[in-house]
Order: sequence, then structure tokens, then C-alpha cells
Amino acid sequence: MVKRLEGKVALITGCGSSGPGWGNGKAMAALFAREGAKVYGCDINPSAAQETQAIVAREGGIMSVAQCDVTDADAVERLVKDCIAAHGDIDILINNVGTARIGGVVEQSLEDWQLVFDINVTSMFLTCKHVIPSMLKKGKGSIVNIGSVAGIRDSGVAYVSYSASKAAVLGFSRSVALQYAKQGIRSNVLMPGLMNTPMVRQPLISLADGYHTQSIEEMLAKRDQQCPMGHMGDAWDVANTSLWLASDESKYITSAEIVVDGGISARIG
Ligand SMILES: NC(=O)c1ccc[n+]([C@@H]2O[C@H](COP(=O)([O-])OP(=O)(O)OC[C@H]3O[C@@H](n4cnc5c(N)ncnc54)[C@H](O)[C@@H]3O)[C@@H](O)[C@H]2O)c1
Repeated sequence: MVKRLEGKVALITGCGSSGPGWGNGKAMAALFAREGAKVYGCDINPSAAQETQAIVAREGGIMSVAQCDVTDADAVERLVKDCIAAHGDIDILINNVGTARIGGVVEQSLEDWQLVFDINVTSMFLTCKHVIPSMLKKGKGSIVNIGSVAGIRDSGVAYVSYSASKAAVLGFSRSVALQYAKQGIRSNVLMPGLMNTPMVRQPLISLADGYHTQSIEEMLAKRDQQCPMGHMGDAWDVANTSLWLASDESKYITSAEIVVDGGISARIG
């Protein structure tokens, strides 16, 4: 059977996960390699990236990894050069890295606001700046930007920089999609809803405070209850949809904003 990404070169940012289990980037890297892609993954945490690489290697897939902070302009330029040197021109770019800091506009520091925008939005600007010329050489490419339903709906948690930065991802992706539509480069946003990934359990983000709960377990239970299906989604829900967006099966899909959220964004309140 022909694999869905056979021979394609995929660059995935944040290919590790911020704790035990499957983050979205880790699941995408594993799935894309299973489907025949040559994966180049980066993460700010080299051991997280190496853990994903070891999983892919055990399964017989092809994956190289690099340490890179995707908010560092020089590092991103080097990352793209190294990816092309290792595997050839890039077919697929997955802009997956993202973070959150709890706080509304009054409580949040300017530093946290800027950090969240750098990680969630500027990183996409930097990767696209260097990857698009490689895609133009091939005459095609698929860019998948990981947004969030927090960019279009209020989740009840005050994290103003997260919501605003994920909304900015929509404008960024649309602009890229329309500028490069004639050259065969597609750009889409995948918006996960409430997912049970290592990120939501990260102490740094203090999501339990955002939910006004005493423990991570209580916060996770509250998130499950919020979802129409009675439970959060997982990293594989994101990975399976992004596989379709990355592949040629979605060749007429560009500038789309696709929710992977178990129906939560359809709710009134
Ligand atoms: N988990 C959810 O409920 C949820 C919901 C909506 C959207 N998302 C989005 O999905 C994406 C991935 O989230 P996840 O839950 O899998 O997170 P995760 O924290 O498990 O994984 C993110 C990875 O990115 C890496 N990273 C962080 N900052 C980096 C930087 N500056 N440079 C390079 N690597 C960096 C981390 O080390 C980590 O390995 C994010 O964009 C997030 O906003 C998640």
C-alpha cells in the first residue's frame, strides 16, 4: 500500500512533548514517519526531541532532530538550512510550538504577553520566511499552523495573550495562503479544542489556577466535563487531521480554519 506521505520532507517544530505522554508535535512526528515522510524535528528541549526520534527509529522510520528555539531568528534560519541539507527541499511545515500563560490583561506582565506572542506567532513568521523559498523551488508545499479554539471562542479561562496570539495565527495563515495560492503552497490552521496533552499539566502554565481548581486532577476533570463528548481529545486527534492537511489528499484546501474539538466551539455557553 502506498504511504500517504511517501518521500515527502516534513519539518515539525516542537516535536517533543513537555512531559510524559504524547504532545501534538510528538504524535505528528511519529505518524508522519509511519506514513513515509522524512521528518526533521526541532525542540528547545533536546532530550524531548531525542525521545521522539528514538520512537520513530524503533518503528523503522526516518527522523533527524535538532535543538532550536523557534523564537531565535538565526537559529531558525540554521534549522531550515540543516533540514534541507539533511533531507532536501521541504514539502511540509508544521508550526506546532505553542505555550500559554494564565492571566487577564491587568494581571499579566508585559514580559509574559511578549513571550507568548514570540512563541505562538513570531515563530511561524520565522519558519515561513525560510521554508517558503524551499517550497517555491518545488512548486508546492503544505503549511499547517497549530492554532486553538481559544483564538475564536472564550474557554472561560483568562489567558489573554494565548487567545490573542491564537487569533493572530488565523490572520497570518490566511495571508500566507492567499499570497502563495498560485504557486501551489497551501497554508491552513488546525484549531484543537481541549486536549489532554502534557502541556496542560505543565506547572509553568498553571492551568489549574486558571480553572480555579486545587489540583491538576481536578482541573483535568473540569476540562472533561466542559467537552460535549464528556472527555478531552488527545494528540492523535490532532495528528490524524494534520496528516490529511499535510498530504496531497487535501490539495484543494487552503486558508481553511479547521476545528478538532469534539464540538465544543459549536456551543453557546
Ligand atoms: N493541549 C491543548 O489542550 C491544546 C489546545 C489547543 C491548542 N494546542 C496547541 O498545540 C500545540 C502543541 O501543544 P502540546 O499540548 O502538544 O504541547 P507540549 O507542551 O506537550 O509540546 C510542545 C513542545 O514544544 C517545545 N517548545 C516550547 N517552546 C519552544 C521553543 N521556543 N522552541 C522550540 N520548541 C519549543 C516544548 O519543549 C515541547 O516539547 C501548541 O501550539 C498548543 O497551543 C494545545
